[in-house]
Amino acid sequence: MNSKIQNILNEIEKFEADSKEALENFRVKLLSKKGEISLLFEDFKTVSPGLKKEVGQKLNELKNKAQEKINSLKEKFEKTTDSGTPELDLTLPGEELRAGSRHPISIVRKQIISIFSRIGFTLADGPEIEDDWHNFTALNFPEDHPARDMQDTFFISDELALRTHTSSVQVRVMENNKPPMRILAPGRVYRNEAISARSHCFFHQVEGFYIDTNVSFADLKQTLLYFAREFFGEDTKIRLRPSYFPFTEPSAEMDISCNICKGKGCTVCKQSGWVEILGCGMVDPAVLDNCKIDSRKYRGFAFGMGIERIAMLSYRIKDLRLFSENDVRFLNQFK
Ligand code: PHE
Repeated sequence: MNSKIQNILNEIEKFEADSKEALENFRVKLLSKKGEISLLFEDFKTVSPGLKKEVGQKLNELKNKAQEKINSLKEKFEKTTDSGTPELDLTLPGEELRAGSRHPISIVRKQIISIFSRIGFTLADGPEIEDDWHNFTALNFPEDHPARDMQDTFFISDELALRTHTSSVQVRVMENNKPPMRILAPGRVYRNEAISARSHCFFHQVEGFYIDTNVSFADLKQTLLYFAREFFGEDTKIRLRPSYFPFTEPSAEMDISCNICKGKGCTVCKQSGWVEILGCGMVDPAVLDNCKIDSRKYRGFAFGMGIERIAMLSYRIKDLRLFSENDVRFLNQFK
């Protein structure tokens, strides 16, 4: 009996648990109903009465030792691993922080805003669900203009539609402010068009306009030349072609010298050396009057450009659909 007790004592002394399970096995081995110590208590009944006191004492001590050891090891495990996480190894390499990237439309919009803010343009915006007055009527669209057709515009009701251009913001700002104003209005616009590499049912524009007492076409041209050079490079040339918009008179479309072939002719500029990037003109006096701005006193210019178009030229993106597909292989390239 005495030697058995001594053996178990030694075992307790040496025992090291490397996991919770090992500790639990150890407890079962010694202290469970059929455990070694419990069995010794069974045997105790057969010990001769003269030795009972001494052996009993030793047995109790053994049981206490076992319990103490188990308790102290348990505490150690609770401190380090009970949270369910493996022990922290500070020598391992850190986990990679996967930063996202800005969308190319956001990048280009920011660049455009920054270029115009340097010459005093401030930002404005308006609703994407727009009424007939702000999207068409105030902008001088005749009743039978094709843009008012279901084919081109997403109507929500007789009165409401998804705006087809950011020019609606011109009206909103002019109605609520007094000249002089130099405003830039970026935003999303919608057109009822089949989706292809070259057209989409929604895209982004930046509208710009300047209203003051002495604004001329020369101011418009110089402002746009400044923008083209800042955005596409010092040696960029511009060309204004006569055009038509209901809300500007005269109206023009602006081309820049092709930034890809440098004017020599390529597939992007269809061998012409020029690519169109925006529409512009002098604000029609009727529009000023519609917005309660005295057209005898004030004049203004306005322009509108597609952000996708500029981004495609700037990054040589060939398919408009890439902008809205959210393919990370595409988006990751704009880090
Ligand atoms: N709103 C016109 C379009 O969407 C662009 C434009 C804006 C033209 C301002 C002239 C002046 O095509």
